[in-house]
Amino acid sequence: MGQRSDRQLDHCTRSIASADNQMAQKILLTGGAGYIGSHTYVALIEAGFEVVILDNFSNSNPSVLIRLGQITRQNQVICYEGSVLDKALLAQIFTEHDISAVIHFAALKAVGESVEQPLAYFSTNITGLLCLFETIKTAGIKHLVFSSSATVYGEPEEVPISETAPLQFTNPYGFTKVASEQILTQAAAADPWAFGVLRYFNPAGAHPSGLIGEDPFDIPNNLMPYIAKVASGALPHLNVFGNDYDTRDGTGERDYIHVCDLAQGHVLSLQKLLSTHEGHVVNLGTGQAYSVLEMNAAYGEAVGRDLPYVIAPRRPGDVPTCLADVRKAKKVLGFETQFGLADMCQSSWNWIETQAPS
Ligand code: UFG
Repeated sequence: MGQRSDRQLDHCTRSIASADNQMAQKILLTGGAGYIGSHTYVALIEAGFEVVILDNFSNSNPSVLIRLGQITRQNQVICYEGSVLDKALLAQIFTEHDISAVIHFAALKAVGESVEQPLAYFSTNITGLLCLFETIKTAGIKHLVFSSSATVYGEPEEVPISETAPLQFTNPYGFTKVASEQILTQAAAADPWAFGVLRYFNPAGAHPSGLIGEDPFDIPNNLMPYIAKVASGALPHLNVFGNDYDTRDGTGERDYIHVCDLAQGHVLSLQKLLSTHEGHVVNLGTGQAYSVLEMNAAYGEAVGRDLPYVIAPRRPGDVPTCLADVRKAKKVLGFETQFGLADMCQSSWNWIETQAPS
């Protein structure tokens, strides 16, 4: 009972704070139950926004909603279950809520799967964006933050990669991100829209509470969730895809960014759009690259033992180094990261351990 009263009190305090600040704006998060979406939900609530989630749980678990309520001390997390392709549902959300802006995460994101099922990627990622556009135009929404990716740089000629680097794609997933960015550019030229396009580098880590984190349904494609499964014993060893690259130790180097830093980047982008109505395209990374072996060793330190790996052939399509030029994000958004590699590994391991059956 005591715990329940505390929660009611906290909820009450939050309501009073919202009433004092009569400007609490409501944001629609498509894909808000996913990995980056859920962390952004928390950052938005902490920044004083109200949030409505739309998610079809195709790559997330509905239990995330209970956990979001625990972290943000809210009795109710508002979520509509469904797809961005469902225009009737989108219209219903805008009828039932006074939405000020949208952050659009809902998309498919596995490179290999996109090669096998390109039409699914065109449908969810491109048609989904167009469905959302139709609805927000009718609703008079002018601000949208778009979840893009460093994948739009394809095989970059120079690192660090600046936002002015040419856009390329090497697979259908990358194509959908390049095409979506171009749709946003053309749309903003015709209507009074302002878009924040955020090009993520390599998201890693989890919320410090251990309640939310990356939860891939299948064997992970990405490095950190794969290492996490090796650490938990679910997979025998890491396959290091190539050790003959022109990098410090021969393995691929990437710019890993803590998911909580990434979430904060969304808040800054949204605040910039709402306060200035100026669109922007920025990289979200740290400006620091780590190799596969460095990542595996750092994760091992968080776990407290060396983690097994074997050297495997290169993965087709991989580049040696991917590293963000982060100057524009700092200049335009005031974005600076707070967390380093040890935080990413420790928070990820904390999340994995919290999930483990006791
Ligand atoms: N790697 C391994 N073994 C694995 C998985 C990955 O050695 O089991 C290596 C890769 O070869 C690469 C590095 O770890 O050198 C990072 O690979 P990820 O798959 O984690 O990330 P990528 O940089 O290849 O791609 C990710 C997303 C893309 C996105 C890109 C943006 O998966 O969707 O970051 O930079 F476009």
